[in-house]
Amino acid sequence: MIEQTTTEVPPQTADTAADTAPPIIAATDVVKTYDTGKVRVPALRGVSFAVARGEMVAVMGPSGSGKTTLLNCLAGLEEIDSGQILVDGTDIATMDDRTKTDYRARNMGFVFQFYNLLPVLTAVENVELPLLIAGVKPKEARRRALESLDLVRLREWQTQRPAELSGGQRQRVTIARALVNDPAIVWADEPTGDLDSETADEIITLMRTLNRERGQTFIIVTHDAGVGARTDRIIRMRDGQVTDDGLGNTRTTDGMSADGQATPIAASR
Ligand SMILES: Nc1ncnc2c1ncn2[C@@H]1O[C@H](COP(=O)(O)OP(=O)(O)OP(=O)(O)O)[C@@H](O)[C@H]1O
Ligand SMILES: [Mg+2]
Repeated sequence: MIEQTTTEVPPQTADTAADTAPPIIAATDVVKTYDTGKVRVPALRGVSFAVARGEMVAVMGPSGSGKTTLLNCLAGLEEIDSGQILVDGTDIATMDDRTKTDYRARNMGFVFQFYNLLPVLTAVENVELPLLIAGVKPKEARRRALESLDLVRLREWQTQRPAELSGGQRQRVTIARALVNDPAIVWADEPTGDLDSETADEIITLMRTLNRERGQTFIIVTHDAGVGARTDRIIRMRDGQVTDDGLGNTRTTDGMSADGQATPIAASR
């Protein structure tokens, strides 16, 4: 096979901000094994990558490849066996639980399935809950919750309960809740998983706008190639490893093309 060669030099002068500014997330050789007593599952097998502040990154890969585990570890919700994770230069593994929880409450927003809306609370009550837990005064919490509902264009729906909202509206409330503390990083695990393609598109458009306007860093786990295509880059995982970091660094595995065009996300289990 004839390889097309070019004489182009890699673009080293572009993206100067990303080159000079320290990354907001830096993972180095992260290893995580689940030990259930019966079986040991190597969920992350030496994961390294960095994310620049303000980037919007998708994490894609087959079911079981370690995407949720990665997000949980990056956010400090789960401990890692070895390696290092720096968030804004801070090694969260060194924090005690209370400091970690506090750090998350101040700096991170979550759009996670396990962290669903509470059915008995109205939209605005759901959104203000993290603030009340963090000790913000009720009046101030309500003001900020309504501001956050404004961002997702749901202020008029503030008194509706989750069951009285559409799937897309519910997900927008979840996003409003994730944004209510103005976090530097928003983690989303399958944020469009349960939505039809039109609503999914609306959600990703909203996230993209918030990312651009507010400079927040978004890390989005998704199976949806359409969602992936709307982000700045796609980190591809397989078998607990990053096979392509979307910056030209690839690790050869079956079905992976060097230009990242292949989408090897067919279920492999
Ligand atoms: N709490 C746990 N205990 C034991 N094994 C686990 C646990 N959580 C995840 N695993 C295993 O770790 C591996 C990675 O799981 P993970 O949930 O990170 O995959 P994923 O890429 O998010 O998959 P999906 O796309 O299906 O959500 C899988 O083999 C899974 O069975
Ligand atoms: Mg998952």
